[in-house]
Formats: sequence, C-alpha cells, structure tokens
Amino acid sequence: MRPMTTRPDAPFLGIDFGTTNTSLGLAAADGSVRLAPLPGRGGGATTTWRTVLYFDPDAGVLAGAPAIDRYAETEGEGRLIQSVKSHLASAAFSRTVIFGKTWTLESLVAQFLRGLRTAATVTDARHAVVGRPVRYWGSRDEDDDARALGRMRAALAAAGFTDVVFEFEPIAAALRYASKLDHDELVLVADFGGGTSDFSLVRVGPHVAPGDPSAILGTGGLAVGGDAFDARIIDAVVAPALGRDTSYRDAFGAVTAVPTWLFARLRRWHHLSFLKDADTLRLLDRLEQGALAPDRIQRLVRVVKEDLGLALHQSVEASKQALSGDAAAQLTCADLDLLLPVQRPPFEEWIAPELDGVDAVIGRVLERAGVAAADVDTVFATGGSSLVPAVRRRLSARFGEAKLAGGDELTSVAWGLAARAHQLFA
Ligand SMILES: Nc1ncnc2c1ncn2[C@@H]1O[C@H](COP(=O)(O)OP(=O)(O)OP(=O)(O)O)[C@@H](O)[C@H]1O
Ligand SMILES: [Mg+2]
Repeated sequence: MRPMTTRPDAPFLGIDFGTTNTSLGLAAADGSVRLAPLPGRGGGATTTWRTVLYFDPDAGVLAGAPAIDRYAETEGEGRLIQSVKSHLASAAFSRTVIFGKTWTLESLVAQFLRGLRTAATVTDARHAVVGRPVRYWGSRDEDDDARALGRMRAALAAAGFTDVVFEFEPIAAALRYASKLDHDELVLVADFGGGTSDFSLVRVGPHVAPGDPSAILGTGGLAVGGDAFDARIIDAVVAPALGRDTSYRDAFGAVTAVPTWLFARLRRWHHLSFLKDADTLRLLDRLEQGALAPDRIQRLVRVVKEDLGLALHQSVEASKQALSGDAAAQLTCADLDLLLPVQRPPFEEWIAPELDGVDAVIGRVLERAGVAAADVDTVFATGGSSLVPAVRRRLSARFGEAKLAGGDELTSVAWGLAARAHQLFA
C-alpha cells in the first residue's frame, strides 16, 4: 500500500468569512480559480451568501440564503443570527442561548461553515486558506486578536477544516487584482467591508514570486465599514422617528426625556437583543404609557417586542445602497410605517468622521512604508462599501481618479484566498 500523503486533492479552498457576506473560492490543480456556486434566494444560484444562521423551531439550523428564505417564510418565528464576526475579538461575549440551548461563538461559526461546506459540496476538504481582517472589529490589542483567531481556528476545526492557514483579506484581494496584470505594479488594496476596512500596500505582478513577504510593504485596518455607515443613518433619520429627543410622563407624572442610550442600542443590529432584558422591557412599558409622542415611541416598542430589528436594518441598508446610485432615496419600512427621505449630501456629512479615520489609516500605511501617494501605481478598491461614492472620492483625492480600479467587490477576497491555497498546498 502506498503511504498516505498530506497533499490535498484539488480543489484548493479559500474561505472569505465576512461580517456581512461569505464566499468560497475554489482553485483547480492547474491553478485556475472559480467561485463555488451556492444555493441562492428563492431557488436561484449565487456565489455570495449572507453570513447568517436561522434557527427554525421545526426545521433545525440553516445557513446563508436558504436561512433567509426560511426566515421570510416563517415570518421570523425562529432566531436569525448575523454579524457573528463582529463578536470574535470580544472577551465579554462568548455564548448565547437559542431555544434553550447554549451556543458558543465558535459553535455558531462552525455551524455556518458546515452549511457552507455542504452547500458547496466540498465535504471532503480538510485544507483551506481563510481570510482575516488586518484588525478584527472591536480588537484593542494582541490578546483580542489572538482570541478572534483562536475562535476561528476552533470553529474551522469543528467544521472539518483541520489544516488552515490565515491570510490577510486585502492581501488576498491583491492576488485577484494581480491575476489580470501583465506587468508589475505597486498597488494599494483598499477593502471596505461590512465590519472593517483593510489595507495593504503590495508589489504585485508576473515577476513577483508567490508569497514573497518582501512584496508586502505595509498593512493597516480599522473597525469601520458599511455597518458604521448604517449606524449613522439610524442616528440621523431613524432614531428621531422612533422617539429620540421626545419626552414622557414618568411614574410620578413628571415630564422626563426619553433616555438616549436606548437609541445607541439601535445602531447595531447585533446590539438590539440587549434591549430585551426585563428592566428595559419595563422601561419601554412606562414609555408607552406616558409618551408625549406616542406614535414614535410605539415604533421603538414594536422594534424591540416584535423583533423588527432585522426589517429595520434591511431598510436602512437598502437606502444606503440606493444612495450609491442616486442623489436621493427613500428609507421605507412598512412594518413600522416608516417612509423617510434620505439625501446623499447629508449622508456624506454623517459619515465624514468614518472617512477621516480611513484617510488617517491609509496615510499611516504609506508613511510607515516610506511610500508617497504618487509612487502608488493603482488603488484597487474592493468590498461592498467601496461602492459608496464618498469612499471613492477620498481615494481619488489622495491618489488621483485615474489610479482607481475596482470590480469583484463581493468576491475578490475569496478568489484570492483560493489562489493562495493553490500556491501553498498544490
Ligand atoms: N451598492 C452599495 N452601496 C453601498 N454599500 C454597499 C453596496 N453594496 C454593498 N454594500 C455594503 O457593503 C457591505 C458588505 O460588503 P462586503 O461583503 O465586502 O463585507 P464583508 O466581507 O462581509 O465584511 P468584512 O470584510 O468587514 O468582514 C455592507 O455594509 C453592505 O451594505
Ligand atoms: Mg470582506
């Protein structure tokens, strides 16, 4: 009998487990890369799954597009879990109870990965290159970073991926850009995702040896992405429509301001569940009874009690995406009887602090590498949030419009991770 080898069979896998979206890249033995076809919404096909799990009271746990379909069919009777990646670095959050069963973060990620693996019919694969942000959301130091990676590794192992190499997400995206080049370039990859923005300054092209560490001149990242833009829209237009800056009569009949911390919890979808504790529910009852702006407070109460957080956040995200194409859009949420106009110029002002943060990190990446903006040949802007015009404008202001390249916004990272898997494992 021939000895077992550790060399995996093709395809070589690249997993982009994103805050919002997940894709799986597959490299064949000859190095050609494609994206794994996945079941999409309503029986269609797709290459990108929303990073969600749905715990159905009857049908068990579903991942990705089928999970959203089921959620819609059952009108949200079960529990939908998303943004798991945003918790990975957190020491405070480690588990949640769903229908009486305790789920650790690792077990949630593992469950999602098993669903992905089955859907993509790569059930035998043990090896994978897996993306990681330069900086995990909420990570403050090396301990937080190690915690996030340790959790990812445990989840991957539980899902059957026992031989895993992590790669920076923007380095993977650089491979996607490089695959189309016939000459070498110095590229700044700027990956604007849902949770984080990640940058790498890399020399790429046909004459750069695969995996050459000296080709990476710098990396940087910050916990700013599309979720932060959504949070700004919630603050500016949604929170007032849900009773922020209004008052109520408290138990003693005194007119009191509705506490603003309630609205801070609205900003992030994954913080909304914190409003369901007994104390807050009692406060909401009180607000409802004494509200001086009852229509608005009623909406706040319904978001919490009727689990309309997802519907609300979807409307917010849709309005943000509409503003990428049009100067004005409507934020509509029928469940809450919301019809709010949003315009691009004020939106760009709301997100200016985030864009300043992005600018500062890019500046530091260049500075540490001793590279001037003029020396960068191309800026490859990728990730869903790179479609926001104000994001692109910040890049063109520094590097010049002619240097901006884009494309494959939702799949460049998975593609590059699979290409990297081929380099490492083939
Ligand atoms: N047309 C658009 N205009 C504005 N934002 C968009 C558009 N399309 C997608 N987005 C946003 O892009 C984000 C998702 O991008 P992407 O899939 O690259 O993130 P991710 O990989 O899941 O997250 P991360 O890389 O931070 O883990 C979401 O916030 C989404 O709302
Ligand atoms: Mg991403």
